[in-house]
This record gives sequence, structure tokens and C-alpha cells, in this order.
Amino acid sequence: MLEQGEIIESSINKKAVIAVTMATGRQGTGVVKELSKTNKYQIRAITRNLKSSKAFELGKLKNVELVKGDLMDPESLNRAFDGVDVIFGNTTPTKGWKLFRGSIVRSYEMEQGFNLINQVKIAFEKGKLNHFIFSSISKGKDPLKNDLAPGHFTSKWDIEEYIDKLELKTITTILRPVSYFENFENKLPGFTISKKIFPGIVGKHFKWQTIAVEDIGKWVRGVLSKPEKYKNQSINIAGEELTGLEMAMTLQRIVSAEGIQTNYFMMPRAAIKLLEHDIGVMADWIERSGYGADMVKLKMIQKELKIVPTSLRDWLKAKLKNENKTQNLWTRQWKLQWDK
Ligand SMILES: NC(=O)c1ccc[n+]([C@@H]2O[C@H](COP(=O)([O-])OP(=O)(O)OC[C@H]3O[C@@H](n4cnc5c(N)ncnc54)[C@H](OP(=O)(O)O)[C@@H]3O)[C@@H](O)[C@H]2O)c1
Repeated sequence: MLEQGEIIESSINKKAVIAVTMATGRQGTGVVKELSKTNKYQIRAITRNLKSSKAFELGKLKNVELVKGDLMDPESLNRAFDGVDVIFGNTTPTKGWKLFRGSIVRSYEMEQGFNLINQVKIAFEKGKLNHFIFSSISKGKDPLKNDLAPGHFTSKWDIEEYIDKLELKTITTILRPVSYFENFENKLPGFTISKKIFPGIVGKHFKWQTIAVEDIGKWVRGVLSKPEKYKNQSINIAGEELTGLEMAMTLQRIVSAEGIQTNYFMMPRAAIKLLEHDIGVMADWIERSGYGADMVKLKMIQKELKIVPTSLRDWLKAKLKNENKTQNLWTRQWKLQWDK
């Protein structure tokens, strides 16, 4: 585990060095795990807290070193990026939740974005950095349609423009994921996913592109396998394009043998806007504009980059299997207690 300022030049081995921001987050963890498996990279997993349980888990992986860094602290990024070949960068708009504000703060994300891109520029000018992968968010189906987009989308698209302004496009690949499957696991009472409830934020007949968050790691691995082709490119990435009803039917087909009926539950838009206004605006935007991943083109790129996308069906099956395992463990432990 490396503390600030203790970063060792990785010339000891010849692996390319890649820095991953927000490494303990859902995207970051997927990226670190996927790259760790390839055995081709030395990964600097950047976190604000080297001692968290998530950081500890990452630190145990092969080819991973934990490095302290905060997107709000440019100096810490400067140290974390020193001598790297590649940077995977993302940002977060999420601050602590406050009444009448929610947790999404656009200016918080913008500041992180400016800090990140400024430090990418500095690392590039030093001469070693040759590839930057920025994780943004999918643009709409019709990029010319002027629909009001949520603040945590426009912030990322503004950061994309800043990449262009600092003349970093030629070394940059922009991956733009759509909504994660993992959002269905929200903790809102009555609206968390179960065998009976498939929760959503949009009307049941609207197409809603989604992706398994760990697939973002597969995309990063894929793009890094053909860097020259994918620099200076932006790709909206998705795994599925289904309506809410079709998603609920996917779950229904898995649980039907148990005689269970799955229904799609749409969270009331007014309640969403009260809790987190920007997510309500996002739901409006998905219904009116819609994510713009080109599913046909993606199939071709996925083949080229050896990416096997996770289907919603497989994701749901894995989730149910995990839950059964945990339940069985609880039942066994409870029985052991009882038998004592
Ligand atoms: N939810 C979706 O469907 C979806 C879809 C597409 C894109 N996105 C975007 O994905 C981004 C979030 O990524 P995620 O889901 O991987 O995040 P996440 O799981 O919410 O985790 C956020 C991570 O960011 C780190 N972090 C927070 N503030 C930081 C700061 N100031 N400097 C450095 N690290 C900081 C935290 O790690 P430490 O505490 O360890 O530092 C935390 O692990 C957001 O911009 C969101 O808009 C979300």
C-alpha cells in the first residue's frame, strides 16, 4: 500500500502503468478487476481513503497498488498520475444529501472534471502519458434535439468540451455508459427489485438503454487492446435496449417456475423530483430523448474488442443465485445456533 508521495517508478516490470480514479466506486472497481485479470498492467487504484474495506479488497488483487488521491485536490492527482502511461478518469456529482437540494451537485462534478483534465494535460506534457479514457454519459438518440438534459449529464458533456479545449482529444477515448442495471437495487422501500417487483423510473412502454456496470471494465480493456483505433473516439455504450415491461418480463420468465408474478413498478415522478430533482429530470429526458447507443454498431465493436456484454437475464440470474446463497448461509447459521 503506497502513501502519498511514495509512488515507485514501475520500471521494475515492463507493464504499462494505468491510473484509475474513483477506484473504489462501481465503475472503478469493475475497471480495476478486469485489468488486473489481464496481467498486462500495473494499476494505480486511486482512493481518498486507503483504509476503507473497499480499498482493502482492491489492494489484494494482482497488479494493483492503492494510491491516495482526491479529485478535489489537484496536487494529489498530480502525484498519482506521475509516470503513468494511461489514465482512466471519471467524476461524481454526488455530495451528501440535503433537503431541497438532494445529493447531486453539478458544480462539485465540474470542479472535479477541471482538476482531472488539467492534470491529464500536465501528465501528457511530461511525455509519458499516451492514452486517456474518460467515462462520461450517453448522449441522446438525436444529438441535435434540444431536450432539457439533467445537470449530471451536461456536466460530463461540458467536461468533454474541456478535453477538446485543452487539445487532448487525440489521446482520448470517451466511453459514454447508459443507466446501470445496478440502479434497480436501490434501497427505496417498496421500489427495490424483488421477484415480484421490477422497479423503474420511466413509463413501462419507453425504451430504456441499460448496462451492467462491470461491463464498463470490459470496454476499457477492449479499447486498450486497440488504442490507436479508439483514440479520438466517443462511444455511447449499452448492453440492453428494453422497455420497463420487457425488463419485468425478463425477470418473470426466470421466476415463473416458482409461480411468481413480476410486475413493473414505476416510481411516481413527483416523488422522485422531491427526493432527487435531477433524477426526475433524467427520467423526463429518457422518455423524450432517450439514450443514443447504436446497438447494431456496438455488436460489431464488441466482437472486434472481444467484449461479451452481460445480458439483463444473466445479471438477474446471477443476482438471484447470490441471494439464495446468502439466504442459505443465514438459514444454516441460524440452524446451527438453534441446534446448540
Ligand atoms: N448510476 C448510473 O446508472 C450511471 C450511469 C452512467 C454514469 N454514471 C455516472 O457514474 C459516476 C459515478 O461512478 P460510480 O457509480 O462508479 O461511483 P460510486 O459507486 O457512486 O462511487 C463513487 C466513488 O467515488 C469516490 N469519490 C467520491 N468523491 C470523490 C472525490 N472528490 N475524489 C475522488 N474520489 C471520490 C469514492 O471513493 P473513495 O471514498 O474511496 O475515494 C467512491 O467510491 C457519476 O458521475 C454518475 O453520474 C452513473
